Amino acid sequence: GTVATLSGQALLTGCNTHDMSGMDAAETAPTINELPFDTPLRFPETVNGTTTLSARAATESMLKGKAGRVLGYREGVLGPTIRVSSGTDVSLRFQNNLTEKTNIHWHGLLVPAAMDGHPTQMVAAGQSFTYSFRLNQAATMAWYHPHPHEKTAKQVHQGLAGLFIVETPAEKALGLPSGAYELPLVIQDKRLDATGTPTYAPTMNDVMMGYMGETVTVNGVAGALHNVATRFYRLRIVNGSNGRLYNLALSNDSPFWLIGTDGGLLAAPESVTSLLLAPGERADLLVDFSKATVGTEVFLRSNPFGGASAQGRQGFNILRFVVNRTEAEPFRLPASLGTAPTLSAGAATQTRTFNIGVAMSGMNMGAMKGMHTINGKVYSMNRVDEQVKLGATEIWEFDNSAGDEPHPMHLHGTFFQVLSRTGGRNALTATEKGLKDTVLVMPGERVRILTQFNTPGLFVFHCHNLEHEDDGMMLNYSVS
Ligand code: C2O
Ligand code: CU
Ligand code: CU
Repeated sequence: GTVATLSGQALLTGCNTHDMSGMDAAETAPTINELPFDTPLRFPETVNGTTTLSARAATESMLKGKAGRVLGYREGVLGPTIRVSSGTDVSLRFQNNLTEKTNIHWHGLLVPAAMDGHPTQMVAAGQSFTYSFRLNQAATMAWYHPHPHEKTAKQVHQGLAGLFIVETPAEKALGLPSGAYELPLVIQDKRLDATGTPTYAPTMNDVMMGYMGETVTVNGVAGALHNVATRFYRLRIVNGSNGRLYNLALSNDSPFWLIGTDGGLLAAPESVTSLLLAPGERADLLVDFSKATVGTEVFLRSNPFGGASAQGRQGFNILRFVVNRTEAEPFRLPASLGTAPTLSAGAATQTRTFNIGVAMSGMNMGAMKGMHTINGKVYSMNRVDEQVKLGATEIWEFDNSAGDEPHPMHLHGTFFQVLSRTGGRNALTATEKGLKDTVLVMPGERVRILTQFNTPGLFVFHCHNLEHEDDGMMLNYSVS
């Protein structure tokens, strides 16, 4: 059975017959709580790169009329949005005011290994640590969250995550919608109790599927409403959920523009009508409300995306926009945005293959953990699994052809290009035209990525379904 408490540790103590019967429940993901969407969307405050962040317990009204107990890096859920220019020195003092160890990983920032928040680099309860680094990368929206071995899922679900926006002069020169017209959005599903407090108590079924919540929040607000003008809006979205995928679309089926992904802006805008976003991935979108009439109502929603999993059959609203005023729109969509990734597969000196496709029947049932593995291995903090030569260009292949669960695979320490996808969807998606740090590998798929390893030190790569990660679906790689 499963023993879990909010304050204590969630431990899988092995599967018994009762739990196995619970796996039939994999056919029914939790029903989405359909809310009235009348709570104004909120945005965490924006801070610069020399702030103190403290992880702490806080109170937040994620559900209208309730005041839940959450974790945050501020007086509320989530963390402040950090905004810095590439090239400036960042120095963030981190104070751990939790009752357990934690740390911060900067997901999507190229930082030295010693600052990356590896699971061996913990900050004990009551202690502090200063993360300092100088960024040198393209403009993008990254995010930050804890990375303690076997505790990441719980700490993120309880509220620890924040956004980190990197700016460059080249991006600013594009004149993309900014200020009130730029909306940084953290999308997360939560399981909330009657008091509006997130509860984390994974069953065996949750470890298989990821911890699905019935309440979808945006920036910590369930049923959120945002009033917009007749303008273009830039929606900068991270899927900060533990395990849920969103097939993002507009409720009127209008096309929207994808302008950037994990590693920064695309070479040119891509017109899409839906976009599948897995945990850890980001999407930089432009939505054109300029021709809408006042009173128009449009939802950002998730459409069913099919596949074998129960979550793929669900469609639901995420965020309600109401056009409430007319404004002139001076913005014109630029024809080109950034630079296309330039590595060539011919430069690769090595190909590594990782089997991530463990079918349920092949899983390590009955064990304490380790149903999810990479090449049959469960994560071990002090074992180096892959040795990479500094500066080497390599192809890594994630093989989920025998598997039956989606796995968003994430590498620390580098961005990569997605080379190919065979099986399953059999093609690359719009987001995969840009630099990525997380790539979705659906059941039946083999995905090959290409990257150059330019930062020395010890990093992890793992599935960003946080239940899979905590279950051991993570390896160490060392660059030297
Ligand atoms: Cu956002 Cu190691 O992850
Ligand atoms: Cu990361
Ligand atoms: Cu996974």
